Amino acid sequence: MCGIIGYVGRRTDAGVLVVEGLKRLEYRGYDSWGVACKTEEGIVIRKDVGKISAVNPSDFLQPSSLAMAHTRWATHGGVTPENAHPHVSCDGKVVVVLNGIIENFEELRAELAAKGHRFVSTTDTEVIPHLIEEEMKNEGQRTEDLGQREKENAFPGPRSQVPSPSPDFAAAVRRACLRFEGRFGIVAMHADVPLLVAARTGSPLIVGVAEDGYFIASDTPAFIRSTATVQYLDDGEMVVTDGQSILFSDLRTGEEREKREIAITWSAAESQKGEYEHYMLKEIMEQKQSIARAVNQDIDQIETLARAILDAQGTFLVGCGTAAKACMAAEYFFSVIAGHHVNFAPASEFKLYHRFLKPESLLIAVSQSGETADTLEAMKIAKSKGAKVLAIVNAEGSSIAREADYTLHINAGPERAVASTKALTGQMAVLLLIAYAMIGKLPKGRTRLLETAAAINDMLNPRYTEFIETIAERIQQSSDLYIIGKGWNYPMALESAIKIQEVSYVHAEGFAGGELKHGPIALIEKGTPCIALVGNDEVRTDIVSNAIELKARGGFIIGIAPARNDVFDEWIKVPDVDTAQAIVNIIPIQILAYFLAVKRGKDPDMPRNLAKSVTVK
Ligand code: AGP
Repeated sequence: MCGIIGYVGRRTDAGVLVVEGLKRLEYRGYDSWGVACKTEEGIVIRKDVGKISAVNPSDFLQPSSLAMAHTRWATHGGVTPENAHPHVSCDGKVVVVLNGIIENFEELRAELAAKGHRFVSTTDTEVIPHLIEEEMKNEGQRTEDLGQREKENAFPGPRSQVPSPSPDFAAAVRRACLRFEGRFGIVAMHADVPLLVAARTGSPLIVGVAEDGYFIASDTPAFIRSTATVQYLDDGEMVVTDGQSILFSDLRTGEEREKREIAITWSAAESQKGEYEHYMLKEIMEQKQSIARAVNQDIDQIETLARAILDAQGTFLVGCGTAAKACMAAEYFFSVIAGHHVNFAPASEFKLYHRFLKPESLLIAVSQSGETADTLEAMKIAKSKGAKVLAIVNAEGSSIAREADYTLHINAGPERAVASTKALTGQMAVLLLIAYAMIGKLPKGRTRLLETAAAINDMLNPRYTEFIETIAERIQQSSDLYIIGKGWNYPMALESAIKIQEVSYVHAEGFAGGELKHGPIALIEKGTPCIALVGNDEVRTDIVSNAIELKARGGFIIGIAPARNDVFDEWIKVPDVDTAQAIVNIIPIQILAYFLAVKRGKDPDMPRNLAKSVTVK
């Protein structure tokens, strides 16, 4: 997804600030970058395709106190320098960056072209500066009386001394935003106005409150080195700041919104790679601590939510990608441990389920980023039916966290790699805890999970990762790879496929072991790598016999299991943690996927075509 960072304040190295901040948003996935700095000579813009990591911040030392930068994950328009953000108006004075999609851009483009506006890109974004420019012309005609301007846009209270000519720009941005359809977050600046203006409907924007000014960014790592104090911009809101004062308002009505200043709990160091070559390996290894942190929940809240699930008339679990696999595993947790029926649906499919929903229903939305558009959409559908929403998220202050009726945080710390690892095991830990609470055995669940956390802590040692690396070495040339599981290991088989696909680009598929003989077993040839996820549970013999079927057809069997078995050509030992087996079984897969990517020369942190948070539908 696109990354945005803007700064306005007393510092004069705004260009360096935003370039360094943009580099800390690289994890979001992108293909081009751009920077705009307001200087004595006007707004200086540089943009290009390629990696921001290749850009030297010292190239932006020209004194500036107002700047913004953007990484583009192409949606509309190819990857070209012209399509990189920022985009500017005809007069070159209005400069804008966008995260999201302006769905009605073609209609707006035609309307603006008819008024003489000229476009240089094929993006949806470029209509924004031109429309703001058009609205400023209208604004100039519309508000003759300065008193009306000041009334309409005055900065109230002691923190606001913004110069009076500026409100036209902010009002014009507001009017333009009211014309847009779709999910978007924009940040805009004007050559003649010392303001940073931002607005969002669907794509996250967060304000960083620094001693010397304000940041506006897509995510907190962009400015965490300058401040850990934030204010959240909500959907349908706008913010205007000159670096000294700040005004939040309702995008539609212009009514002022009060915002608390909130302290971010994790440090800048936590969001960096440290001694690891890649975020992905760092975050896999952080599972030595993150699962215990996930288990450390407010007992009363867990009990309350368990009761809410038991009382609900229909509980639906929704998520996307890896988060969806946590939801699928929870179906088994609730069934096997609590004997309670819940329904899983991929968030993107939930639209077709809404007919079941009623005010007594409960939706459980699971998301690492808390910004996934399909999951937010599912929540909106549930709320439109009067159902309550429980969010299980990692990112503090995220949209999903703020829009839910109840929120549980997995406290895994920042997850930067596109491939979700520690968030998945944290999500499953919380869901497993709830399953135990549903049968009044929360202490037993906590004990099970803390024992699992300790076992993972022991498991994740250099010898273990080195052994898995040797297996990656052995299968790295494979073009196809299959994973089977049963029960809660079936969702982990599907998750294994996602992990391996998305970072190594190897074709991997996960199956329920029992499904092999209904078709997929036709795919097995001599030497085809097949991974069997096994636990010491009621379905162990079933999945082992599935592995025997695969071996009989030439499959090279890699067993991930608490105990060795003759059918395994390679055995990756995992602790026997009973009902938490899915949590430990996926960790060797994460490590295998990581080494497959590295050995195949891929960047596991930023895989092609993917973004860390899919904030567009
Ligand atoms: C997982 O490795 C992928 N990056 C992707 O499937 C991800 O899980 C999915 O987009 C959901 O993201 P979320 O948890 O932030 O909602």
